Amino acid sequence: MPEKIDYSDKPRRSIAFIGSECHPFVKTGGLGDVMYALPRVLAKQNCDVRVILPRYECIPWKYQEKMVYRGEFYMGLGETGREYYVGIMEYIHDGVVYDFIDNQEFFSGPKPYYSLVDDIPKFCYFAKAALAALNFMDWIPDIIHCHDWQAALVPVYLRTLFAGSRVGGAKTIMTIHNLRFQGIYNIPTIRYWTGLPDEAFDHNCMKQNFVDANMLKGGIAYADRITTVSGTYAGEIQTWEYGENLDAHLRYHSGRLSGIVNGIDYDMWNPAKDPAVVYPYTVKDVLKKKKKNKLALQKELGLEEDEDRFVIGLISRLTDQKGLDLVNAVVHQIMDEFTEVVVLGTGDPWYEDAFRYYEQIYKGRFSGCIQYDEARAHRIYAGVDALLVPSRFEPCGLTQLNAMHYGTVPIVRETGGLKDTVEPYNKYENWGNGFTFDRYEAGLLLDAINRAKECYFTEKEKWDDMVRRDMEKDVSWENSANQYRELYLSLTQW
Ligand code: ADP
Ligand code: GLC
Repeated sequence: MPEKIDYSDKPRRSIAFIGSECHPFVKTGGLGDVMYALPRVLAKQNCDVRVILPRYECIPWKYQEKMVYRGEFYMGLGETGREYYVGIMEYIHDGVVYDFIDNQEFFSGPKPYYSLVDDIPKFCYFAKAALAALNFMDWIPDIIHCHDWQAALVPVYLRTLFAGSRVGGAKTIMTIHNLRFQGIYNIPTIRYWTGLPDEAFDHNCMKQNFVDANMLKGGIAYADRITTVSGTYAGEIQTWEYGENLDAHLRYHSGRLSGIVNGIDYDMWNPAKDPAVVYPYTVKDVLKKKKKNKLALQKELGLEEDEDRFVIGLISRLTDQKGLDLVNAVVHQIMDEFTEVVVLGTGDPWYEDAFRYYEQIYKGRFSGCIQYDEARAHRIYAGVDALLVPSRFEPCGLTQLNAMHYGTVPIVRETGGLKDTVEPYNKYENWGNGFTFDRYEAGLLLDAINRAKECYFTEKEKWDDMVRRDMEKDVSWENSANQYRELYLSLTQW
């Protein structure tokens, strides 16, 4: 068990989280999980936390109706020559204050993101409105913690247009959840929507390739600290292979860059009390209950019901990042009569179609659920034996953490947070958490799956030991949140 720390006598700091998604209001991936879980743990560690989010029209009505009007004002935006409405709607839950920036021109429609044509102006507005709202509410945080490119203009605005205002004294942290997305557009457009001074369009700041401005690059240049979501990814992004054209910029700023691995929220992910799981369980009865959950899942998905089959799950955005071309390459070799596969995900149409096709040709043994369904995701974590995460790159990855916490053995590629959180199985010492492979090659993925199968079918006691070890592994936020808290303190010594 992790050591319990008493936070009540630790120095208190105030932190504004700024980002574009947060469970349960709006979530497209792991960023939404982190924006939900980390502030809640920090609040318990004697931090005063506010989360600033867009008030998207697509936030479910059950939350919208609980929001309280906190005020409104008008704000100039770049060279538009117009004043834009900024409303503030507030919602308080579990010690965390959520302030939603309201503007129907920018945040309407059924989803949070569209194409860059819409999203660039939207987040130029959002970053500025978030800072203006802090001044308006007269809530001046010690730290402003910005997440991904959608909030990356915050440090840039703060050190330029807001430098003389009250919020201007706050320290900033820029956390990179995924370097692939940077918010790049031509300079005239970003100049138009932000009105930032020339220095922000300098090569050391946002300018890229002579014609473009890169919002994340600017955030990295101006933030007091840069973090990413695992130690390994912090190193990887400084290389050409993973650097997404920002490796040199990140190497230049590497003195301020570090990695802090994500955790998962133990209230949201608790196999003993999960309302979505048919047979809740603990480490004591996991082996028995997992079989029952497997049978229930097979029934739910129309798979052949057999508790002895080896059932492999994959829960993922269906994009290139996630290593799905490797999966595609080995599907026919995985699908023997002892194995079933369950895929849950949405994304690129060619992957969606491929998984629909496998469901057709492997009737009763392959389930391709092309949907986003939180409750079903929980039942899959509980009901499958192993979870595949063969990512091309993975800043942290949460699905392998959820899986382990539900006694499901991860099969992962050794990259980013996958490498930092899944210790490879060592059959001689009966140790480790899952099966891993290093180079991005289909043959190596197949080998890892076969090693897992071999262990499952021929060394069942060792497999069962691993299931229990995974459930007992500490993947909570406690320790990582404490590292963020220490980082906040190190930036605000007075
Ligand atoms: P990323 O943020 O790159 O998508 P992560 O592993 O960090 O990857 O987080 C993914 C999160 O989204 C996990 O909580 C996972 O359970 C969830 N998720 C992904 N796809 C689906 C889906 N189709 N339905 C339900 N939950 C999903
Ligand atoms: C990103 C990454 C993922 C990470 C998540 C939360 O979406 O792709 O690896 O777990 O952010 O930090």
